[in-house]
Amino acid sequence: MDKKAYYITTPIYYPNSNLHIGNVYTSVIADVLKRYKALMGFDAYLTTGTDEHGQKIMNAALSHGSKPQEFVDRIAGETKVLLKKLDIDYDSFIRSTDPKHEENVKNIFQYLYDKGDIYKGHYDGYYCESCESYFTESQLDDGNCPDCGRGVNHRKEESYFFRLSNYTDRLKELFKDHPEFLEPKFRQNEMLNNFIDKGLEDLSVSRNTFDWGVDVPFDNEHVVYVWIDALSCYLTAIGYGHDMEKFNKYWPAGVHLIGKDIVRFHTIIWPALLMALDIPLPKKVFAHGWILFDNDKMSKS
Ligand code: ME8
Ligand code: MG
Repeated sequence: MDKKAYYITTPIYYPNSNLHIGNVYTSVIADVLKRYKALMGFDAYLTTGTDEHGQKIMNAALSHGSKPQEFVDRIAGETKVLLKKLDIDYDSFIRSTDPKHEENVKNIFQYLYDKGDIYKGHYDGYYCESCESYFTESQLDDGNCPDCGRGVNHRKEESYFFRLSNYTDRLKELFKDHPEFLEPKFRQNEMLNNFIDKGLEDLSVSRNTFDWGVDVPFDNEHVVYVWIDALSCYLTAIGYGHDMEKFNKYWPAGVHLIGKDIVRFHTIIWPALLMALDIPLPKKVFAHGWILFDNDKMSKS
C-alpha cells in the first residue's frame, strides 16, 4: 500500500551570511519531526533552501566584493555543508535562483496579472531593508520598523500590487473554520487583531530600484519582490511546474515550520496567494519563538 505523504518545510533562509543557531533551531525541529513521521509510517518529505534574491542579498554580495550569483553560490554551498554536519535529513534543498523556480515565479506573476489579481500602482511608505518590508506611517513603532526596530526609509515608487484586500473575508473564514491552521493558538490573535480584522491593504510585489531578482515577464523595469519568489519555493521544491505527479503527491504541506518573525507572510500573504492560484492551502503553520542572545533575538548581525 502507498504510504501517506507528509510534507514539512523550514523557511527558505536568506544567504546574506551563514546560518546561525537560530536558523538551525528550526532545521533541527524539522528534522526531528520528519524522522518521527517516518517512524509512524508516513512518506515524510522535508524541504529547506535559500532565498537568494533581493536588495539585502545584493548588498551583502557587494560588501564582500562579489557578484550576487557567486556570493549566493558560496553561501548556499556552505549551508549544505553545515546541514550535513548537523545530520539534517532534508529531501530537497531549493535555491530561489534555480531556473525551474524562476520560471515558476514568472508564470505565477503572469497568471495573477492576467487574472486581475496583480495591477500596477504607486507605493508611498516606509521601507525596512533588513526585513524587506514596507510599512505605512501608522504601522511604524516610534518611527522605526515594527518587526526589527531598525530605522526605515521613506519611499515613493512605482510598483505592482497583489490584491490582498480582496482576500480579507476568505482569510477571516480560514481562521474561523480552521483554528488548527496556525499554532500555537495564541499567535492567531495577533494576525486577526492587527491585520485581518483591520482590513488588509494590497501588497507591493515588485521593485524597480534594483535588478537582483526574477524579471516581471511583461515589464523589464521591475523584478518580482522577494515574498512571492520565496514562498513559492515550497511548491517548486516538490515539483510544481516540472513534475506535477510528485507535486500532487506531497502538496498540500502537512506543516510549514517557521519562527514568529514571518507569521504574517505565511498565514496571510501565502494563503491569499494560494487562493488566487487555486492551489489548496497548507494544513498547518507552526511558529516557534526565539533563541535569545542576552535579551535579544539571536540574529545574523
Ligand atoms: O525570513 N531563534 O529568512 P531568514 C529561533 N528568507 N529561530 C530563528 C532565530 C532565533 N533567534 N533567528 C532566525 C527569512 N530564526 C526568509 C524566509 S520563507 C518562504 C522565507 C529562524 O534567514 C526562524 O525559523 O531571516 C525564522 O523564521 C527564520 O530563521 C528566518 O530566516
Ligand atoms: Mg530575518
